Amino acid sequence: MFDPASFVNQKVAWLKEAIGRERALAAVSGGVDSMVTAVLGHRAVGERLKVVFLNTGFMREGEGEAVSKTLEKLGIRVERREVEGEFFSALRGKTDPEEKRKAFRETFYSCLSRVAGELGVKVLLQGTIAADVVETRGGVKTQHNVLEQVGIDPMVRYGYRVLEPLKDLYKPQVREVARFLGLPPEVSERRPFPGPGLSVRVLGEVTPERVELVRKATRIVEEETRDQPCFQAFAVLLSDRATGVSEKGERRYGAILVVRVVASEDAMRAEPLPLPWDLLRRLTHRLTSEVPGVSRVLYDLTPKPPATIEFE
Ligand code: XMP
Repeated sequence: MFDPASFVNQKVAWLKEAIGRERALAAVSGGVDSMVTAVLGHRAVGERLKVVFLNTGFMREGEGEAVSKTLEKLGIRVERREVEGEFFSALRGKTDPEEKRKAFRETFYSCLSRVAGELGVKVLLQGTIAADVVETRGGVKTQHNVLEQVGIDPMVRYGYRVLEPLKDLYKPQVREVARFLGLPPEVSERRPFPGPGLSVRVLGEVTPERVELVRKATRIVEEETRDQPCFQAFAVLLSDRATGVSEKGERRYGAILVVRVVASEDAMRAEPLPLPWDLLRRLTHRLTSEVPGVSRVLYDLTPKPPATIEFE
């Protein structure tokens, strides 16, 4: 049986020891993994832990504000850095999923290196969990936060040590730790969101306009599935387009969105949710009428395996 209390005691002691007298940095995205990591780090070394939110441009609506509010309630101050420009330039012209993921990872760590340098920090706390490591090692996809396990020495490449207190846990255990630490349900029960954010849900080239389209669609899918017993619910923008027709009979050649809503325990296997027909119709209506440029909406019926949860 997993005991969150003894896990927290053990990891706080380990972090105290590993950080020593140095200062540490934790980047938070709002997800349960990075938030739990930041709280553990704060318990271990207090104000010597610096917490940053990197606005990569691929986050969901209101995410940065929500992160700051939640951590401030726990007495942890969050510094926000605007780095969208760097991410959009790094991804410009790239369409291959693994190339996009690697470009994201490189930009993510070079931004973090810069922030770490400015703050005089040589230790980075990271919320990597077991599923991230399993999939990257297995070559399924490059998780943005897995380095040492694939042979990248962060000290040599980026100039800091990485500590990963959650790397042996799966999602349900991380949630138990979050509840134990007093994080609110919006965090402890939060649906997973990939580190590279909306960039892996925009198939083909990532442009600010295409990301904005997915951001709007994501909000609608999340609103409409709020009460569904799902692990994740999101929208994906395909790189192809489809012919459509307006109410007035005019031809439209528009975007194709895929809605993906899955049930899963630990992200290693997943099943699509049999959503009620009325809900699917309402979703389609909202996506085609509220998100400009959408001409077609599809619902993904593929389990994992053989598909993965995300498309890239
Ligand atoms: P897949 O798509 O591999 O996703 O079935 C498994 C789970 O991991 C999330 N995911 C990521 N999380 N960094 C993360 O922190 C990433 O690069 C990443 N890629 C996928 C995905 O949303 C799902 O919950």
